[in-house]
Amino acid sequence: MRDLLPALRPALVLAPMQAITDLPFMRVLARRSSPDWFVCEYFRVHPASTLNPHILRAITENKTGRPVFAQMIGSDLASLRRSAVALAAYPVAGIDLNLGCPAPIVCRKSAGGGLLRDPEAINRLLGGLREVIAGRFTVKTRVGYSGSDEFGGLLEIFRRHAIDGLTVHARSVRECYQGPVHTACVQAAVATLSCPVIANGNIVDVPSALAYQRQSAAAGLMIGRGAIRNPWIFGQVRAACEGAEMIIPTYRDLLEYIRELSAEIAREAPRYEPLGHVQRMKRTLGYISHGLDPAFEYALRRCSQPAELWALCEAHLGSDEALPSRPPVDSKLFSGFAQLTDGA
Ligand SMILES: Cc1cc2nc3c(=O)[nH]c(=O)nc-3n(C[C@H](O)[C@H](O)[C@H](O)COP(=O)(O)O)c2cc1C
Repeated sequence: MRDLLPALRPALVLAPMQAITDLPFMRVLARRSSPDWFVCEYFRVHPASTLNPHILRAITENKTGRPVFAQMIGSDLASLRRSAVALAAYPVAGIDLNLGCPAPIVCRKSAGGGLLRDPEAINRLLGGLREVIAGRFTVKTRVGYSGSDEFGGLLEIFRRHAIDGLTVHARSVRECYQGPVHTACVQAAVATLSCPVIANGNIVDVPSALAYQRQSAAAGLMIGRGAIRNPWIFGQVRAACEGAEMIIPTYRDLLEYIRELSAEIAREAPRYEPLGHVQRMKRTLGYISHGLDPAFEYALRRCSQPAELWALCEAHLGSDEALPSRPPVDSKLFSGFAQLTDGA
């Protein structure tokens, strides 16, 4: 993965987000600012699984010019090996293993973040996958299942295998998405591993991105929810690193982004269905609208018809004022982000 890293700044990576970071989202994002590479939402892998064609399109139809890693989630080694070999037949930049998903249904099956309770199982999976993945093989992990004190033991396992990169969402599975990230864990990963380490969790704007990189010395920064809310963020961080002028998006720019996203999602839907489309848009709009105006957020949550949705967006997003650069400090959706820059 070292060959993908820019020379003079941290690599910028779009986080995989199930049912959000699909092909339409990647296209609309890339028109505003591109990450250096994408990681697609996870392919579920089990003995009866086949590769999900919707997710596969984010790889095969991706014309953004940026590499795409395919991510797998599962616990059955034979199935993971079979899927890794099948994915390698597509134009993937590499294959990533998910060790972070906190969903109880996933953890109960000892997949995703659930695997962090069983380091020996991780050891077997990494060894078995490395044997069949000839290209880049990366891992996306949390810092432990119950707490960050487990991370040292996990790093020992990661160190044994020739993985090409490690992304750390620096919270435990128990912490889910709440509270500040453990930047010291990312720093420990950088100090322990010979592969590039990507820092993830709570980057919402340029100052939080730069502070995370400074505190961890990570080779790259992965941004998820912050890029849904602000699709200009990759360009802004790049500009800050390069001393270039930074785009300051307005409410009207945000409205145009939502319009484009809606059109792309509708175009890609196998069968357009207005109520389902509004529900799909609301999944993304929850992050986009957060912190702008409580009345807007409240009304969005309740709307169900396309006309209602557009009337609301036009009423609240018609101005040429600059958007707030970060969510509210007491946000529950972006919990603990301010600690990244506290004292920076
Ligand atoms: C709706 C949603 C879906 C997610 N789906 C995935 C996924 O498919 N694979 C994965 O590794 N992480 C997934 N994540 C975790 C993100 O990739 C990322 O690690 C997390 O959101 C923290 O980064 P952020 O603060 O920049 O959003 C998901 C997160 C959210 C909010």
